[in-house]
Amino acid sequence: MTATAAQTASPTSATAPKGKVVLAYSGGLDTSCLIPWLQDEGYEVVCAIAALGQPGSSDIDAIAQKAVSLGATASYAIDMRDEFCEDVCTCAIKANGMYENKYPLLSALSRPVICKHMVDIAHKEGAVAIAHGCTGKGNDQVRFELECKALDPNLDILGPVRDWDLLTRSQEIDYCADHGIFIEVTKSSPYSIDENVWGRAIECGVLENPWNEPPADAWVMTDDPLAAPDAPTDVVISFEEGKPVAIDGEVLGMFDLVCKLNQIAGAAGVGRIDMIEDRVIGIKSRECYEQPAAITLITAHKALESLCLPGDVLATKLQLEHQWASQVYSGLWYSPLKDALDAFFESTQGTVTGEVRVRLYKGSCVVTGVKSQHSMYDFGLATYDEGDTYDRSAAKGFMDLFGLPNKVWAQRTLGVQGEEGPDAPEVKPRVLVAVPSGAVAKVKVFK
Ligand code: ARG
Repeated sequence: MTATAAQTASPTSATAPKGKVVLAYSGGLDTSCLIPWLQDEGYEVVCAIAALGQPGSSDIDAIAQKAVSLGATASYAIDMRDEFCEDVCTCAIKANGMYENKYPLLSALSRPVICKHMVDIAHKEGAVAIAHGCTGKGNDQVRFELECKALDPNLDILGPVRDWDLLTRSQEIDYCADHGIFIEVTKSSPYSIDENVWGRAIECGVLENPWNEPPADAWVMTDDPLAAPDAPTDVVISFEEGKPVAIDGEVLGMFDLVCKLNQIAGAAGVGRIDMIEDRVIGIKSRECYEQPAAITLITAHKALESLCLPGDVLATKLQLEHQWASQVYSGLWYSPLKDALDAFFESTQGTVTGEVRVRLYKGSCVVTGVKSQHSMYDFGLATYDEGDTYDRSAAKGFMDLFGLPNKVWAQRTLGVQGEEGPDAPEVKPRVLVAVPSGAVAKVKVFK
């Protein structure tokens, strides 16, 4: 990480009887309001601002200065972009991390890094609590609470927005003005947005009706697939032990690689997700995401795994991937189960080295080629042409044994054709499906 801290003199303990709190500060209205609010509650406020590749990432120093001008006694601007991409996004690719098989977890992945730095700052500053601006209906409150507690069970976690009575933007602005803080009013977005280099989450507003198609202005990172170029874009992604390392032969660090792929895939309309999602706190919500690089990288990584890993490893990994994504979504990044799942995934990635060619075209991302020095694909075994090395004679015995339990079951339940006499079992026809529709095949017999 790189961090810069803006600072003013600490207030006396008489003005902050409850001690210091570290606030996750975004520069927006909610968290700006939290500075005077926490001071009113008796805390000294220290702010932490994260750059994770969201559009304002290069302005975090200015946001840190703003926090100080609003009354924070210190303010840390932390550039987490490399750490987020190299460690967290890489880990998510190895896990093919997608919640409910659709959402590549952009917000959920950012919280463990943010929480880690907040707890580090709390220790450095001797703070007693961490505060965040999450609402009471979302997943992010759960993640802050669980992840900070996992890192230091002794810290208090404060989520005042959950139950304060500043319900509207103008109430929040008035509250700040009453405290001598004049916030520049910016046009509020019609959506609730969270973004970082792994993607952009869009919710609320007209999206709250699941029948409403997301309006064009909801999308920023991706072009409309219908208006995307008529020519497909082919991209070759190189992986080393499960980690993407190059695009079209150009070796890049993870942050640059993800940025570049966001551009390329986004321009082809790839990466839009529109789903009904099950939040941890029990609500179904309508969520839209744009994750061009994430979708492309996970698609490519899965294809390379299919080439390089045995079928039983793939099948087991698929089940565990689902569990991993649920853990991460639910704020259990720092948990023994998640650590154990990571260890399993890591143990599978040693041979996941090679190249994948993907075709990006009007919103679709399709693998068109894959190769690896660790490929388990054997031409001699697979071919139907010359050069066949497969021992077909072994197939007969294999089927006799592989199908044996099913054959015995059929004999017991259907009866055996050809047996005669009073004790011969009745031969019953096997139904095609459990509940037949009554449709019948049309048969013509030619002699
Ligand atoms: N539903 C997503 C998640 O829980 C995205 C949350 C985005 N947050 C926001 N303030 N829009 O991971």
